[in-house]
Amino acid sequence: MGSTSAQLSTNFYDKTCPKVLSTVKSVVQSAVAKEKRMGASLLRLHFHDCFVQGCDASVLLDDTSSFTGEQTARPNNNSLRGFNVVDNIKSKVEAVCPGVVSCADILAIAARDSVVILGGPSWKVKLGRRDSKSASLSAANSGVIPPPTSTLNNLINRFKARGLSTKDMVVLSGAHTIGQSRCTSFRVRIYNESNIDASFARTRQRKCPITVGSGDNNLAPLDVQTQNKFDNNYYKNLINKKGLLHSDQILYNGGSTDSLIESYSKRPNSFNSDFAAAMIRMGNISPLTGSRGEIRKKCGRPN
Ligand code: HEM
Repeated sequence: MGSTSAQLSTNFYDKTCPKVLSTVKSVVQSAVAKEKRMGASLLRLHFHDCFVQGCDASVLLDDTSSFTGEQTARPNNNSLRGFNVVDNIKSKVEAVCPGVVSCADILAIAARDSVVILGGPSWKVKLGRRDSKSASLSAANSGVIPPPTSTLNNLINRFKARGLSTKDMVVLSGAHTIGQSRCTSFRVRIYNESNIDASFARTRQRKCPITVGSGDNNLAPLDVQTQNKFDNNYYKNLINKKGLLHSDQILYNGGSTDSLIESYSKRPNSFNSDFAAAMIRMGNISPLTGSRGEIRKKCGRPN
């Protein structure tokens, strides 16, 4: 990672597309104004992009008759959203500087803008990624994106495999301060686990029936307190045994990450600054730079 990621820079488009940041921001702003959850969905797209083949917009490639991309992979299918917003951003950016800005960079900028708009920290996004010409369904299905059933060791190892520390994993999980989850992702936890607040479990059970196949797509907020605000309530929820996903609560369950959870629950400022720094590290995962890859004209297909 070292030498390739070093090529990303915050001023990459200063000469070639000085309007890129304002153009992306205005589209994200109107999308989030229309639907707050879209901020969460855009943030998650960047994560799911970066963990599979690196931050190369592979996640955005649509299936065709001869190609199956990552969108139907287990962690993504019926779950990832925001593709239309990204297409909209791309067409506005193409209008001001055609053929210059990658879809992978658009994902990174849109993720940052989403966090800021929902009240979270800001950071200078490093740019200069290029887009892949292919995607990998098998990689997206192989567990590189950890499932919500993960053990703490799984989570630590999956992030380590991407050059991210345990602390990065804990602070990036704080992204679950915004957005929603489908019942199918938390059913087992709310019916079978004991490290859960009983009344919280009952509330979630009301809209997530015990029977597999029934209400699978019903939604619940990942943060029981403030689902549209990027704050540190996620960590307070974990201390109160109100984490929604198994993979959330496992971060505060008597293991090695308990002290980090306690710390972020009490220190919103250190959560904010560590989150920003970890997002930059996540955005550095194996980018295509130089003459590798391409600048897609449309984010959904290779040129
Ligand atoms: C630590 C490992 C992680 C696991 C196991 C995990 C798992 C999940 C699951 C199961 C959902 C709900 C999906 C559904 O049911 O449709 C979800 C949603 C979400 N995740 Fe994660 N996630 C992880 C890390 C991250 C990271 C690193 C980020 C971003 C930095 C992130 C951002 C989000 C957001 C914002 C949502 C809500 C999306 C929406 O409402 O559209 N997650 N995650």
